[in-house]
Amino acid sequence: MNVLIWGAAGGIGKALTAKFVQEGHTVVTVSRHPSEMKSLTPHTIAADLTQPAQVIAAARLAGELVQPFDLYCYTAGDILSAKIAELSPADWNRILAANLSGAFLTAQASLPILSPQAPFVFLGAVHERLRLPGLSAYAAAKAGLEAFAEVLRKETRHRVLVARPGAVETPLWNKVPFSLPKNALSPSALADRLYLALNEGQDGLIDL
Ligand SMILES: NC(=O)c1ccc[n+]([C@@H]2O[C@H](COP(=O)([O-])OP(=O)(O)OC[C@H]3O[C@@H](n4cnc5c(N)ncnc54)[C@H](OP(=O)(O)O)[C@@H]3O)[C@@H](O)[C@H]2O)c1
Repeated sequence: MNVLIWGAAGGIGKALTAKFVQEGHTVVTVSRHPSEMKSLTPHTIAADLTQPAQVIAAARLAGELVQPFDLYCYTAGDILSAKIAELSPADWNRILAANLSGAFLTAQASLPILSPQAPFVFLGAVHERLRLPGLSAYAAAKAGLEAFAEVLRKETRHRVLVARPGAVETPLWNKVPFSLPKNALSPSALADRLYLALNEGQDGLIDL
C-alpha cells in the first residue's frame, strides 16, 4: 500500500509513519522537518501545510514519487491555551490553519493522486469535552474538522475517518498548562489502534 502522511513530523505522525513502514508499506511524508523523517522513510517532502502553493507543490512531488496513494493521513495540529479576551487574531488563525485549513488544502491537493478506494484519515479530538476556558480555537477547529470530513464523505466515494484519541504522550502537551493524564497512550499504541481500525474497515468518527 502507498501511504501519504501530511504533517508527519509530530509525535503521532512519526509513530504512524513507523507503523506503516514496519508493516511493509511505502510511506511518503510531508512536513516542515523532512530531515527528521529520513530515519523512518526515504520519501520526505518539505512543506508548510497552511500555504496553498507549498501544498500543491508537495502533492505534485508526492505523485511523482508514487502513484496512486491508497491512504491519506493528516496528522498536523497545533494548540494553545489563551482565554478569548487575550487570544490574538494571529494565534487564532494559526490554530485554525494547522488543525482545519491545512486539512482542506491537503485533502483537495491529494484527490487527484488517490486511488478511488483510498480512505482519508484526519486526527480529530473529543472536542465536546474540550470546550474549556482557553481552548476556544482548538475546540472550534476540531469541531469544524468533523463537519468538513462529513461533507468530504458525501462529496466523494472515499471512506473518511476522523480518529479522536483521548490523550497521547507527544510534544503537543508541552504547549498547554495541563498535566498529561495518567491513562495517556504512547504514540505507538495509538498508531497500532488506528492501523487496526483501518484494517477493520471502520469509517466516520472513531474514538481511540
Ligand atoms: N497528543 C494528544 O493527546 C492528541 C489528542 C487528540 C488529538 N490530537 C491530534 O493529533 C494530531 C497530532 O498531534 P501530536 O500529538 O502528534 O502533536 P505534535 O507532536 O505537536 O505534532 C503536531 C505536528 O503538526 C505539525 N504542524 C503544525 N502546523 C503545521 C504546519 N503549518 N505545516 C506543517 N506541519 C505543521 C507540527 O510541526 P512543527 O513541529 O513544525 O510545528 C508537528 O510536527 C493533532 O491534530 C492533534 O490535535 C492529539
